[in-house]
Amino acid sequence: MSKIILTGDRPTGRLHLGHYVGSLRRRVELQNQGGFDDIFIMIADAQALTDNADNPEKVRQNIIQVALDYLSAGLDPAKVHIFIQSMVPQLTELTFYYMNLVTVQRLKRNPTVKQEIKLRGFSESDDGADNKAGTPVGFFCYPISQAADITAFKATTVPVGEDQEPMIEQCREIVRKFNSVYGPTLVEPEILLPENAACMRLPGTDGKAKMSKSLGNCIYLSDSEEEVTRKVKGMFTDPGHLQVSDPGKVEGNTVFTYLDAFCKPEHFQKFDSCFVGKKASFSFSSLDEAKAQYRAGGLGDMMLKNFLAAILNEILEPIRARRAELEKDIPGVWKTLREGTEAAVKVAQATLDDVRKAMRIDYFNDSELTGIK
Ligand code: TRP
Repeated sequence: MSKIILTGDRPTGRLHLGHYVGSLRRRVELQNQGGFDDIFIMIADAQALTDNADNPEKVRQNIIQVALDYLSAGLDPAKVHIFIQSMVPQLTELTFYYMNLVTVQRLKRNPTVKQEIKLRGFSESDDGADNKAGTPVGFFCYPISQAADITAFKATTVPVGEDQEPMIEQCREIVRKFNSVYGPTLVEPEILLPENAACMRLPGTDGKAKMSKSLGNCIYLSDSEEEVTRKVKGMFTDPGHLQVSDPGKVEGNTVFTYLDAFCKPEHFQKFDSCFVGKKASFSFSSLDEAKAQYRAGGLGDMMLKNFLAAILNEILEPIRARRAELEKDIPGVWKTLREGTEAAVKVAQATLDDVRKAMRIDYFNDSELTGIK
């Protein structure tokens, strides 16, 4: 069986470091390892509209931003198809058929849907007693549309963050249900989670659970060197670490969570000057050594922050440089999207043909039914 990847992002803003460690970096590795027969990366504009119906302009403007982030992070259109969800109408048709295989009750139990309804402040009551705006039906159903996204490409592998786990589980249920009712047609996908625990959930710079644009706690891939340094300097550390000489806490300390995600032993050699100070200097060869020193006291937040900023800027520098190049040819980026979308439409149409045939609603191809020779 072919090995196929499908994944994507909602174009509601530029992509940030959370996206990078949670999925983007991995996608680039997977693309370069060459272990997959096809890779589809989707800009999920239709899904973004499920809770931005009144702001299509935001979604529209961010399509090119996300495409620039993808390409500058190293996704290569020669190896992956990058496409726009709403320009593949086959996905909408599949969604409509799959809707009949899912109950309202099951959707309501989807933990991600539940959490996102809370997050967006949509009403959770059925009679409007809480005086909140209701949940848009399209938003409520987006797990079904996501199952259409995945199955349209017969994806075997979906690399996403752990928050998407309930979506993949729901997709697998839809596949099993479809195949048992209409005969084997669709492929059950596997989730591919990030490897390292710190990457699973990179917190915001304020220490809050998630980077989110509305919280203003993100470091964007397109941030300048100065912005990155400024954001790192303002990062949440250990509020009990008042004096450099005090013992500090590593757990829950955002700077260390980021170092867990990004720091490699060679960084200590490369950026050893960050640990040279007026009062004290250190020479570490691993993050464990730095953590031990921080716990014992004497290692200041500023040194660690300078070190982290150096690491992040080293990672982001080539991404920024590629973005600057790509920005000189925006029509070229749109062409890439158009070509990726054309490829996606072909594959999705083939799956839709299979689906209609399995459901026996491909009426005009059925000469037994129509008598047309
Ligand atoms: N829900 C994903 C996000 O919020 C985007 C997405 C839409 C997706 N369809 C998908 C991801 C299918 C993986 C597979 O980022």
